[in-house]
This record gives sequence, structure tokens and C-alpha cells, in this order.
Amino acid sequence: MMDRDDERVRALLEAARAVREKAYAPYSGFKVGAAVLTGAGTVHVGCNVENASYGATICAERAALFGMVATGDTGPVAVAIFVDDVEPAMPCGMCRQVISEFGRDVLIVTATPTSTKHSTIEALLPDAFVLRK
Ligand code: THU
Repeated sequence: MMDRDDERVRALLEAARAVREKAYAPYSGFKVGAAVLTGAGTVHVGCNVENASYGATICAERAALFGMVATGDTGPVAVAIFVDDVEPAMPCGMCRQVISEFGRDVLIVTATPTSTKHSTIEALLPDAFVLRK
């Protein structure tokens, strides 16, 4: 697991902060930015994209992870989430399941302009569903 004080974590949070401005959230007004760092050292960003058919909305975390997969990159080591709110946003249940697909010791760093929380996907989604083939 990477260290929370790693310089790469600071850069990852900055990427999440920047991409948040691209979010399309006309319905909730709640803009979220996410950035995924992989073992290869690459950063993949995503923002939430809402839809008039509300259930078609995608969260920032899944948008970033799906972008990672589309480039052929694998193995996230950290996911950063940035919102402009009083408290950091914790990833929703569906995003926890998707993050956990790619590793159990992924660092989760979630921040606002004034506070940061650190966790791991193992702590946020213990005993996750896995499909035994
Ligand atoms: N949202 C995210 O993008 N990530 C989260 O971790 C929580 C929720 C989005 C979905 C929706 O566009 C808005 O925030 C309000 O739920």
C-alpha cells in the first residue's frame, strides 16, 4: 500500500480537484472529481456526469476507473476524490464495489478544500462480493 504522505497522493488530489470543474451536475449541483493512480504511475481522471434520466448518472470514481480500463492500464493503488463541501465525500456503495474489483489495499483519499480523510477500500467495503468462477 502506498503512503498517504506520498508526493504522488498530493498530485492525485490536485488532479481530482482540477477535473471536478468539468463535472456535469445540473440536477444535484454536486460536482465531484476523482483521480486514480495505477501501479504503472499513470493518473486517470473522471468526473460525475448526470442525466435527465437520473439513474443513468455515473459517479466520478467509476468514470475514472472505466477510463483506466479503456487505456489498458490496470491495478489502481490509490483513488482520490475531491468535492467543494463541508465534509469529504465518501464513495457510494456501487463505487466501493467497483474499486474493490481491482484490489483490496487501494488507498482512498477524499478531500475538500479544508479537510482530507484517508482510508482503504478494504476498510470501506469489508467482505466484498467476489464471483468465484
Ligand atoms: N457522486 C459521485 O460522483 N461520487 C460519489 O462518491 C458520491 C456521489 C455524484 C453522483 C451525483 O451526480 C451526485 O454526486 C449526487 O449524488
